[in-house]
Amino acid sequence: MALLKIKFYPDPILRKKCEAIKEITEEIKNLGRDMVETMEKNKGIGLSAPQVGELKRIIIVQAENQPRVLINPKIIKKTKETEIGEEGCLSFPGLFLKIKRAKGVETEALNENGEKINFKAEGLPARILQHETDHLDGILFIDKISFWQKLKIRKKLQLRDPAA
Ligand code: CO
Repeated sequence: MALLKIKFYPDPILRKKCEAIKEITEEIKNLGRDMVETMEKNKGIGLSAPQVGELKRIIIVQAENQPRVLINPKIIKKTKETEIGEEGCLSFPGLFLKIKRAKGVETEALNENGEKINFKAEGLPARILQHETDHLDGILFIDKISFWQKLKIRKKLQLRDPAA
């Protein structure tokens, strides 16, 4: 087991699209385990592979007090009903934003043993699933806020991005 280094915004890797995992090798299983350890050490409730520098479709989601490793996760259904909730992100330390998300989602994925799983979630785990699967396509929670909200946090973001 190893603790992985978190990539912080504006690291360009956070904007890249991740590739599907074709085979669940020992390397992938180790990555999943290391991501769980890294998420827990950093007191996170979700983590995606690009945040630890791996462009692979794998996420960790804390659900029912247990970290779940989801490989090639795909949200197949979203409720029409939405909910606004506060979110943080390990790649944006200290930044918390109110984000509108679907209240419930249904996700298909593989677990670390390569078994197909269907995962229904509501509330917080549904929010984490949406946040983490977005990461796999280079979408960040700052993309989900209004222009005015963005102006408000610009200073905070600039502190992290000398080029911004
Ligand atoms: Co995040």
